[in-house]
Amino acid sequence: MDTRPVVLDLYCCQGGAGKGYDLSGFRVIGVDQDPQPRYPFEFVQMDVFAFLSTFWDVASRAALVPASPPCQFDSETQRIRSNDHPDLIGPTRIVLDMLGRPYVMENVRGAVPKLRDPVMLCGTMFGLETYRHRYFETGGGFILEAPDHPTHTHTQAKMGRPVRDGQYGQYIGNYSGVGKSRKVMEMPWASREGIREAIPPKYTQWIGERFMDYRNQ
Ligand SMILES: C[S@@+](CC[C@H](N)C(=O)[O-])C[C@H]1O[C@@H](n2cnc3c(N)ncnc32)[C@H](O)[C@@H]1O
Repeated sequence: MDTRPVVLDLYCCQGGAGKGYDLSGFRVIGVDQDPQPRYPFEFVQMDVFAFLSTFWDVASRAALVPASPPCQFDSETQRIRSNDHPDLIGPTRIVLDMLGRPYVMENVRGAVPKLRDPVMLCGTMFGLETYRHRYFETGGGFILEAPDHPTHTHTQAKMGRPVRDGQYGQYIGNYSGVGKSRKVMEMPWASREGIREAIPPKYTQWIGERFMDYRNQ
């Protein structure tokens, strides 16, 4: 029997975030509305809100509930405001609050005004060759303290252009060089579509380790 504490990985995509929680000692169960054949853990294909209303008891036994609502609504490169890309940050927080479990809700810089006291993580904090700032709101009693933010020392390749030697890649949109992005992001199983959506596993491994410390206090 698997006795590891459960992380319920909402909006899991191909599992960038999920991988970090796995590495920090959790059993990871992902939920996404789209099929995710590359997701490396247990997976349920379902709308997040339908999943929670159907499996509320299961969800309320999770140790930690991370959620990455889609960021197209707030992405600086892709401001698409339509019914195809609804803003799910507010509705997701409502259900996470009702669930009452510790949670981590992540998003991009454009969404910062909607996040509560988010902590920013950058690839430089983990020795990655990408800056990839992502913002993490926590709740349900779990608090994160931001690590020091090292100075940015490299130029970034322009969006869609190959990453030249000495540059850092952004790996968003229709970028080229999926092989390099798999190495930099540490996601060898993922496709370009999965990587451009992903939180680097290193970020969530760090969060998972902080959460294990919090649980064991
Ligand atoms: C930003 S990606 C998540 C990235 C992931 N956390 C990672 O680190 O790899 C958002 C995902 O949410 C999914 N999604 C969007 N709306 C959804 C909904 N209502 N229910 C379930 N999944 C949804 C999309 O299919 C997409 O895979």
